[in-house]
Amino acid sequence: MEITNVSEYEAIAKEKLPKMVYDYYASGAEDEWTLRENRNAFSRILFRPRILIDVSKIDLTTTVLGFKISMPIMIAPTAMQKMAHPAGEYATARAASAAGTIMTLSSWATSSVEEVASTGPGIRFFQLYLIVQVTRDRNVVSQLVRRAERAGFKAIALTVDTPRLGRREADIKNRFALPPFLTLKNLEGLDLGKVEKTDGSGLATYVAEQMDRSLSWKDVKWLQTITSLPILVKGVLTAEDARLAIQNGVAGIIVSNHGARQLDYVPSTIMALEEVVKATQGQVPVFLDGGVRRGTDVFKALALGASGIFIGRPVVFSLAADGEAGVRKVLQMLCDEFELTMALSGCRSLQEITRNHIVTEWDQRRSFPTPRL
Ligand code: GLV
Repeated sequence: MEITNVSEYEAIAKEKLPKMVYDYYASGAEDEWTLRENRNAFSRILFRPRILIDVSKIDLTTTVLGFKISMPIMIAPTAMQKMAHPAGEYATARAASAAGTIMTLSSWATSSVEEVASTGPGIRFFQLYLIVQVTRDRNVVSQLVRRAERAGFKAIALTVDTPRLGRREADIKNRFALPPFLTLKNLEGLDLGKVEKTDGSGLATYVAEQMDRSLSWKDVKWLQTITSLPILVKGVLTAEDARLAIQNGVAGIIVSNHGARQLDYVPSTIMALEEVVKATQGQVPVFLDGGVRRGTDVFKALALGASGIFIGRPVVFSLAADGEAGVRKVLQMLCDEFELTMALSGCRSLQEITRNHIVTEWDQRRSFPTPRL
C-alpha cells in the first residue's frame, strides 16, 4: 500500500516493533492529555489564504543559526533509534543530509557522535542532557560537548524540562529497558551506557540515579564557558522562561513539551508558541517541536512566529517501517505538503508567511468575548 502521509507510518511501526519499543516511542506522560493536544491544537487554526498571487516560484530555504538549509523542517532528537531499525541514527543522519536539513542527535542515542559524523557531511546539532552527573562531575559533560564539537556538530540543544523523568505508564507496565545488545553509545565509556530492567521503567530508574535535580540557569551559564557552540534551550513553554533564556545568553529557544512525555496538562506547543515569540521580541529565533504531521502544521507554526520546526516521532516510526528510505520519504512528504500550502495561501518565501495568513480559535475568543451574565 502506498504511503501518502506522514501519520500512516505509525500503524506500520506498531505492527513491526516489539510492544515495549513501540510503546516507548508512542506514549506520553500519565493521562496523555498533552499528547493528544499537541495534535488537536493544530485543528484550531484555520487559514486566511491570499489569492491571485504569482506562485510559480516558491523558495523554502532558510537559515538556522547561520546555516543555510533547504526547508524549515528539521529532525528533533529522539533516543535509542537502533531499537527502531538496525541502522538507527546512521539512517536518520543520511536522510537528513540528503534532504539538506539539520539532524539533532540525542544524548541517549545508540550511535555515537563520531559514528554519526562518519556518515558524511551534514549540519548536525547535539541534544544535551545536563542531567548526566553535571554537578557531581562536570568533566562528563565537558568531554561529551568536546566530542560533539570535534565531530563537527554545530550547536547544542540543551533539554531543560527533565529534572526528573515524566511518568510514562506504558514504560512502567512494560518494564522498559534498552535491549542488552544496544548501548547509549555516547555514554558507554562513562559507565552510563546501559538502561537495565528494573521493577518499573528502566529509564525512569536510570534518570533517577544519574539525575542532578539541582540544575539551574547558572549551569546554562557554565555550559557557555566550556563551549563556543551556540546553545538552544529546548523545553521552554512560558514568556517568563523565554526572557530568562535571553538574559542567560542563549542563541535560540525551542518551544517543546518533550513530545508530551514530561509534565502532562501543559499546553500544546503550537498554543504556547506565540507567548514565547512575543516575549523574545525578535532577539533570538524560536523553534517548535511537538505534533507536527502535516505541511499545514509547519505553515501554522511559522505564521505564529517560529523560525522552523522539528519532527520526532515521524522519524522513528518511518525509520521502523523502512529505514533510511522511510525517513527520506517523511521529509519529502512534509516538504511537498508545506510547499503546496505556501502556494495555496499565496506565499512565495518564508518571509511572506504572516500572522494574517491564519486565524486561531483563541483569536476568535478575544474578538467575541463571552457576554457577562
Ligand atoms: C527521551 O528523551 C525520552 O523522552 O524518552
